[in-house]
Amino acid sequence: MQDPHEIAAEAVAALAVIEDAALLEEVKARYLGKTGSITDLMKQLGKLDASERPVAGARINEAKQQVEAALTARREAIAASALARKLAAEALDVSLPGRGAGVGGLHPVTRTLARITELFHSIGFDVADGPEIETDHYNFTALNIPANHPARAMHDTFYVGTSDVLRTHTSPMQVRYLETHAAPAKVVVPGRVYRCDSDMTHTPMFHQVEGLWVDEDVTFAGLKGVLIEFMRAFFEQDELRARFRPSFFPFTEPSAEMDIGCVACGGSGCRVCSHTGWLEVLGCGMVHPNVLTPLGVDTEKHVGFAFGLGVERLAMLRYGVNDLRLFFENDLRFLAQFR
Ligand code: FA5
Ligand code: MG
Repeated sequence: MQDPHEIAAEAVAALAVIEDAALLEEVKARYLGKTGSITDLMKQLGKLDASERPVAGARINEAKQQVEAALTARREAIAASALARKLAAEALDVSLPGRGAGVGGLHPVTRTLARITELFHSIGFDVADGPEIETDHYNFTALNIPANHPARAMHDTFYVGTSDVLRTHTSPMQVRYLETHAAPAKVVVPGRVYRCDSDMTHTPMFHQVEGLWVDEDVTFAGLKGVLIEFMRAFFEQDELRARFRPSFFPFTEPSAEMDIGCVACGGSGCRVCSHTGWLEVLGCGMVHPNVLTPLGVDTEKHVGFAFGLGVERLAMLRYGVNDLRLFFENDLRFLAQFR
């Protein structure tokens, strides 16, 4: 019979250089498996003389325990070095400074809308909002624009189904507001509007703020005063140039459009103002009796003025932006300048 301690020494030496868990199991099988060399010694025990068995058996057991101890030690060492490698790979330096959360900012159009509504609110206007998908009735008919009226063609309307539209202006809210608020009424309505139109000064979606003031002593002179004072406060310019041109809207009579001096060129004429030196910023007028009467407003007693201003136009002028489309391209290099 081979000396068990010799076999054990050989096994311990073999185990000492193993780095791999699978290889470790192979070595274990070679010595302690069903046909392993130490297991073989056990099988040979029976052939020995009865007097020799206890001593030989004890030596085999010792050898087996040595191999098992070496195996366990090696297994732990392999697991420990695997863990150490993993920890090194996933190392996290908690003392590094943080990456920092980027600070966002309000979109220039949002800022402009807030500025407009705040200014009107400060002189007593209520603030309301309404649906962007409108019925034909509110967008046109109730505003004195009956079916087949040529004014409908001016609006470049996006249709939703057969009788609904994406509102082409905020004026439908004049009607909706007066349906739920009896005269006197004084309100501004900021919101999105849509037209099938696109160039340097027109985008398919833009914002308007509607204004409506219905009371006993409202006049066209009052309308001009409110709008000029608003523009001067908005631009923080006491001498701001503004002009009113006669115009036509079916829902106001008389009607006008208000222009302010082009800031891109200072009035000498450029691409932004189509070489006129002026930029149209709003439409306005005295609310037509055909709009007020069906709403139960007594037009012998109450008169109203209304206006609808283009928010992007005001934002362009205030920030010196020469292409309206920049507001909707979401280029962060552009937007970050307004933080
Ligand atoms: C109207 O929309 C009328 N509802 C305004 C109104 C209200 C008149 C109340 C009388 C009483 P207009 O289509 O002109 O009018 O548009 C008003 C303003 O919106 C314009 O002065 C302009 O500043 C802006 N605007 C019009 N079309 C566009 C567009 N495609 N892109 C950006 N701004 C526009
Ligand atoms: Mg117009």
